[in-house]
Amino acid sequence: MLAKAPEYHVPVLGPEVVQHLISDPNGIYVDATLGGGGHAELILEQLGSEGRLIGVDRDPVAISVASQRLARFGSRFDHRQIPFWQLPDVLGSLGVERLKGALFDLGVSSRQIDDPERGFSYRQNGPLDMRMGPDAARTAEQVVNEYSNSDLAKIFREYGDERAASRIAKSICRERETEWIRSTTQLAELVARHVPERYVTKSQARVFQAIRIEVNEELKNLEETLNRIVDALGTGGRLAILTYHSLEDRIAKRVVKGTPISNLPRDFPVADPAAGKMRDLARRGITASVKEIKANPRARSATLRVGERV
Ligand SMILES: C[S@@+](CC[C@H](N)C(=O)[O-])C[C@H]1O[C@@H](n2cnc3c(N)ncnc32)[C@H](O)[C@@H]1O
Repeated sequence: MLAKAPEYHVPVLGPEVVQHLISDPNGIYVDATLGGGGHAELILEQLGSEGRLIGVDRDPVAISVASQRLARFGSRFDHRQIPFWQLPDVLGSLGVERLKGALFDLGVSSRQIDDPERGFSYRQNGPLDMRMGPDAARTAEQVVNEYSNSDLAKIFREYGDERAASRIAKSICRERETEWIRSTTQLAELVARHVPERYVTKSQARVFQAIRIEVNEELKNLEETLNRIVDALGTGGRLAILTYHSLEDRIAKRVVKGTPISNLPRDFPVADPAAGKMRDLARRGITASVKEIKANPRARSATLRVGERV
C-alpha cells in the first residue's frame, strides 16, 4: 500500500474561523494567506451560489497546490500570487468594491517548514533561504553573512526575544570571517555553541524565527495592510487574524479593536479618521482546545482575533 502523502497544512481553528468570518454566504471574501487552501476550502464550502473567495499567497507552490484543491469551486474561487500588502491595490481589478470578510493566517505553513530546501527549519539541513516567495528582497544567507553585528543582535532581540542576542550575533560575525555561513545546520550549531544546553532548542527556534521575519519583512507592512483591508470591508464585514507570536498579536489586537493608529493628540478638535471603525468580536482572542493542540501542535501558539466593521 502507498504511504499517505503528508498533508500540506492542517488549518488551525478551522470551524471557529468559518463561524466568525462568514456573515453573508453570498458575499465576497479574501484569504490573504492561502497556503494549502485548507481554510479557503472550509470557507468556500459554506458560501452560497453568489459567494466568492479570492486567495492570495506570495508562494508559487502554495498557489499551485491550493488552486488544484479548490478547482471544483469554479469561478467562485480566484487567486493571485502577490505579497498581501499589494492586495488592497488589486481588489479593484478583481471587480471587488466591498468585502464581506478577510482572513489572515499569519506566518509560514507546515509545508514550508517541513521542506528542508526552503531553509526554515533548524531541525533539518538545507540552504539558508527562508523566503516565503520569490518577491522577498533577501535570503537568510544574505542576512546572516552581510548584516552588521548590531543589526543581527537587534533582529534577534526584537523579532526573537532572544536573551543571548548579542552573544549569538558576535559569534556569527566571528565565524563568517573564516567561513561563509550557508546551511541551516551551520547556523543551528553556532547558536547551540553559545547558549546553555537547556536553552538550545528554544534559542535556535527564536533565532530562526527572527531571521525569517526579517527576510520576509513580516511585520513591516502588516498594520498598514490590515487597516487598508478594514477600509475595504462593508458594514458588518469581518476581519479574522490568526497570530502565532506576540509581535503579530499586538498589531492584530490593535486593528480589530479599531485603535487609532494616527498620532493625533487625544484632545485634537477634529475626529480621528482612524478611530471607531471596528468592533472587537473576541476580546480575549480565541485559542485552540486541548484536543486540537494534541492533533495539531502548531495550534498551540495560535490566537484568533476577529473584528467587525461598524
Ligand atoms: C499559515 S500559512 C496559511 C495556511 C492556510 N490557512 C491553510 O489552511 O492551508 C501562511 C501562508 O501565508 C503566506 N504568507 C505569509 N505572509 C505573506 C504575505 N505577506 N503575503 C502573501 N502571502 C503570505 C505563506 O507563504 C503561507 O503559505
